[in-house]
Amino acid sequence: MQHQLVLVLDFGGQYNQLIARRVRECGVYCEVKPYTMPVSEIAKRAPIGIIFTGGPNSVYEENAPKIDPALFTLGIPVLGICYGCHIIAQTLGGRVVPASDETAREYGKTRTYFSLENKLFSGLPNQGVTWMSHGDYMEQVPEGFALIANSDACPNVAVADEARRIYGVQFHPEVDHTENGLAMLRNFLYSVCGAVGDWTMGDFVKEAVAAVREKVGDGKVLLALSGGVDSSVCAALLAEAIGPQLTCVFVDHGLMRLNEGDEVEAAFSKWPIHFVRVNAEARFLAKLGGVDEPEQKRKIIGEEFIRVFEEEAKKIGTVDFLAQGTIYPDVIESGIGDAAVIKSHHNVGGLPDFVDFKEIVEPLRLLFKDEVRQLGRELGLADYLVERQPFPGPGLAIRVIGALTKEKLDTLRLADAIFRDEIAAAGLNKSVNQYFTVLTNARSVGVMGDGRTYDYTLALRAVTTTDFMTADWARIPYEVLDRISVRIVNEVRGINRIVYDITSKPPATIEWE
Ligand code: XMP
Repeated sequence: MQHQLVLVLDFGGQYNQLIARRVRECGVYCEVKPYTMPVSEIAKRAPIGIIFTGGPNSVYEENAPKIDPALFTLGIPVLGICYGCHIIAQTLGGRVVPASDETAREYGKTRTYFSLENKLFSGLPNQGVTWMSHGDYMEQVPEGFALIANSDACPNVAVADEARRIYGVQFHPEVDHTENGLAMLRNFLYSVCGAVGDWTMGDFVKEAVAAVREKVGDGKVLLALSGGVDSSVCAALLAEAIGPQLTCVFVDHGLMRLNEGDEVEAAFSKWPIHFVRVNAEARFLAKLGGVDEPEQKRKIIGEEFIRVFEEEAKKIGTVDFLAQGTIYPDVIESGIGDAAVIKSHHNVGGLPDFVDFKEIVEPLRLLFKDEVRQLGRELGLADYLVERQPFPGPGLAIRVIGALTKEKLDTLRLADAIFRDEIAAAGLNKSVNQYFTVLTNARSVGVMGDGRTYDYTLALRAVTTTDFMTADWARIPYEVLDRISVRIVNEVRGINRIVYDITSKPPATIEWE
């Protein structure tokens, strides 16, 4: 089925994927494309609306991203956000200049006053807080544009040419800090663009199942299942669509959390698929023996994973398709720039060299993470798989600092299970976005009963974050921390001291290695 489409043109801002997720939350399908997408291609896709994102530049800078003015002749509604608003103003004959203090260099929460006689703000309160992050000022707005919002410091916070259906807002409606921001996006989509809300997960299951069946026919499909959300939902979708034609290879590298391997296996027992669980713990531990350098650990695990998978694949013989749980954020090409690589990420995903397959199938390619979870729920996957917090491909290997031993891994597994238990019991498992324990390599002296101990220090790590690019340490109540500490030192041998990691990201990262 063809869905109505909104294009989000990416100028390199930090909230770009968030904009797209919000549009989808409103029940409208959208795709993120670089701002350089040619107007002819945009026209071919026939979107019902276009959103320009924010970006790190100022429109008057020499090499700042530009937009082809022909885009405005297509008659497609446009909403510009932050940089997107300024580029509209500049392209259509207005003037944008650096803001002096009086003319509103605005950062953070800003009280904003709205005119309600326009489709963007219609039906909303006439004032509220918006989230601003810009240092520029629309000194002159283009002809035909009306001012539709102001703040105490800035007379033109939002502009509109309602005849041409072009809107611009200097603030960020997509972030939670903007009151009624989602309602503004909804107004743009439904009142301005004429959206009908034809993007729902229930429909997506039917469509995705049909699409997989059509693509795969009676072919054989092979999937490397890691037990993470993406590969699990991918497996469930394929299982639903083609059942016995699917083989899932689940490489149990022995670096998973307590009982995790069994849980994954159990979750897929309800489908008539070929489920191959490879117990490769000894193999991985042998390769990792004595290795303490984090990047080397990651590299070894990534490579070994592929080798084990290839060996299993060889046993299966030629398959028609290799399935991958690639999701939309992996697919989006950003408008500008590349982020620095701080850690190499190893997941199931890198293409194996020696697996015999004809084609790749990626049924989650168009979905954001929250949509993948929703799809998993629709497919009846267990909550513990769908709701999982992120877990790194190299697993507990990068949460045991220094060289690994089976004993250390087992110690960490028990401590980690207690931590997760207590976080859930305290009702914090939804508000804290990721939480785990790290077995540090530090040993210290303690006293237990009448005896001296010389055991390891365990660190608790818990963060709140929306994008995992930045994170804050979670303010877990002292009583909860106390319970966790008492339980772990009492129940887990080899640990006699617990510390809580109170660094944000940056400057730390979420994981320790
Ligand atoms: P850092 O430690 O870089 O982690 O702040 C950011 C997020 O990424 C997860 N992480 C990984 N995820 N494969 C993954 O799929 C990996 O190799 C990997 N390393 C870190 C980490 O748990 C956090 O959620």
